[in-house]
Amino acid sequence: MEVIIKQTYPEMSQVAAQLVVDVLNAKPNAVLGMATGSTPLGLYQELVRLHKNEGLDFSQVTTFNLDEYVGLPVDHPQSYHHFMRENFFKHVNIPPQNVYIPSGTTSNYHAFCQWFEKRIEDCGGIDLQILGIGSDGHIAFNEPTSSLSSRTRLKTLAKPTIDDNARFFERREDVPVYAITMGVGTILDARKLILLASGNAKATAVAQTVEGPITSMVTASAIQLHRDAKVIIDDEAATELRMRDYYEFIYQAQPGAPTT
Ligand code: PGA
Repeated sequence: MEVIIKQTYPEMSQVAAQLVVDVLNAKPNAVLGMATGSTPLGLYQELVRLHKNEGLDFSQVTTFNLDEYVGLPVDHPQSYHHFMRENFFKHVNIPPQNVYIPSGTTSNYHAFCQWFEKRIEDCGGIDLQILGIGSDGHIAFNEPTSSLSSRTRLKTLAKPTIDDNARFFERREDVPVYAITMGVGTILDARKLILLASGNAKATAVAQTVEGPITSMVTASAIQLHRDAKVIIDDEAATELRMRDYYEFIYQAQPGAPTT
């Protein structure tokens, strides 16, 4: 795992955007795994800027989103369909038929989850998966005690997640209790992972993810098993890391490191 600590949120968003650009330069028809939440907004804004000003092309890209609330129609202002449309898809040139987001309104969740997994496979697998992290250490909506080999399925949201997400809803009771989410196993199958975190509220979860034991109590810690995972964080999210100096040394020393 590589840990990249940047002083500010805009700087970490730019590092993340550059990694997406690198993947698209190497493979213009890449399959990207998308995340919602406040954290990737800076990354999406930078990608939109690169698309508009520097011709970054998404015309062959396919995307799969991590999760969606159960029960929210696609045009609900808090649905992840709505979030993705407003914050990213409507500003870039990804063909609408290449966009896959779990359905929060299907009449058959079990069949939908199986179909979603199959679509990822049929599209060749996810090349780069973008991840946020919950204050309880979740990735996607894989709440504590989720199986580390889980696949796309329904999950019940944990109380800290409902509390965190209540800020987006008029009343706490309006936050959906269930979500449809890629599993930890689905996420680990992606070829590259980038996990983004910003702010003090994420510092404990970040330290547990990077330096703690691999445990289903912190599902993000499963990324320790991945061969190509980068954790990109700002200064505040890095405050509880014990090995911070080491990560910064590695990042700074990179240009001089042997490449063969
Ligand atoms: P946030 O959510 O980016 O809004 O903090 C992250 C998450 O819960 O995965």
